[in-house]
Amino acid sequence: MPLASKEIVAPDVFWVGSIDWSVRVFHGYHTDEGTSYNAYLLMDEDVTLIDTVKQSFSQELIERITQVTSLDSVKYVIMNHAENDHSGALPYVMTLLKNATIVTNKICMEHLLLLYPELNLYPFKIVNNSTPLVLKSHTIQFLQVPMLHWPDSMFSYCPDINTLFSNDGFGQHIACSERFIDQVPLQDHVLRQMREYTANILGPCQVPLQTALDNAGSLQIDTILTAHGVSWRDSSIQLALNEYSLFAQNKQLKKKMSIFFHSIRGTVKRTAELIAQASPIQVSMHDLTIDDLTKCALSAYDSEYIAFGSPTIYSQVTPLVEATLQYLLGLHLFKNRKVILFGAFSWVDKAVQDMKRLISNGGGTVISEISFKMQINERVKDQITEDFKHIF
Ligand SMILES: [Fe+2]
Ligand SMILES: [Fe+2]
Repeated sequence: MPLASKEIVAPDVFWVGSIDWSVRVFHGYHTDEGTSYNAYLLMDEDVTLIDTVKQSFSQELIERITQVTSLDSVKYVIMNHAENDHSGALPYVMTLLKNATIVTNKICMEHLLLLYPELNLYPFKIVNNSTPLVLKSHTIQFLQVPMLHWPDSMFSYCPDINTLFSNDGFGQHIACSERFIDQVPLQDHVLRQMREYTANILGPCQVPLQTALDNAGSLQIDTILTAHGVSWRDSSIQLALNEYSLFAQNKQLKKKMSIFFHSIRGTVKRTAELIAQASPIQVSMHDLTIDDLTKCALSAYDSEYIAFGSPTIYSQVTPLVEATLQYLLGLHLFKNRKVILFGAFSWVDKAVQDMKRLISNGGGTVISEISFKMQINERVKDQITEDFKHIF
């Protein structure tokens, strides 16, 4: 299929990325809407490629570059991050870009050489926050954003065109033919996808995110070009900055309760329903046999209250509940949350204690523990009513 005509996304900048319409699992993250791997070509006498794409799209990247310029004219390839979705094409691309030097930070170079030892054949130029890349008509500054979300992550900024190349920052997993949020009909949906991405990938990155926002705050930015999904320009930039700013300060939390449960005989599900009915605030209910980890993380992202329910089976919490707890813990999604634990048992009362132990270092506060033997009774209903009187 011939490629669409070349696309300018900022002054002197062409989009040369790939749209992955069919990817549905991205290192465990369920990407129901696919994604894109956005790479950019900055046209200068010193032509500069900014990031590459996933390995399976290598040829497409080369074809898009050749639509704009000759391969021999590419002088630099800036790598903002070494993860495979941005670097997979690099070894192949470098065999064709005969005059190119890879420009990146020291840690990213180390990661790239570990992932692709054959890159040892090519020249590297190491940059950092105080060493810009000076091209013939543009300068590119670098903003290292370690742990946003890898130690090697960085943003590139071109002050001549007020453009920030943010790599994974401000991204979303959406495959679409548009390049900017103002071109898609449902902007709220883009923000939802950005929250899902933030919850599932950037969860542990609140502190580095705030640092990155502080550093970016001093820049004049007209365009943010992301590596995934749609990008941001003009007034929409504030939408993206606001989302990250709320998250960095933990202000995304709402008076909302996410209830996660695994029910084997139906009693835990019934308890989840009683909790939902008793809740005076918005509830989002997740049967863990149906909803995947990606959806659970998105739900927990903005919930001030998290309820978890499990039966005791083989003298412990169910593996499904444990796996979900561990996933949310890894993403720091219990931090500053108020937690309600509930469980049923037949002869060993263990599930609630197991859940409490698992989340003990997660930064949440357990505010209610509800446990019952065999069957829900009036005592359980009264406890929910009584506990909720104090909680809300
Ligand atoms: Fe990444
Ligand atoms: Fe990525």
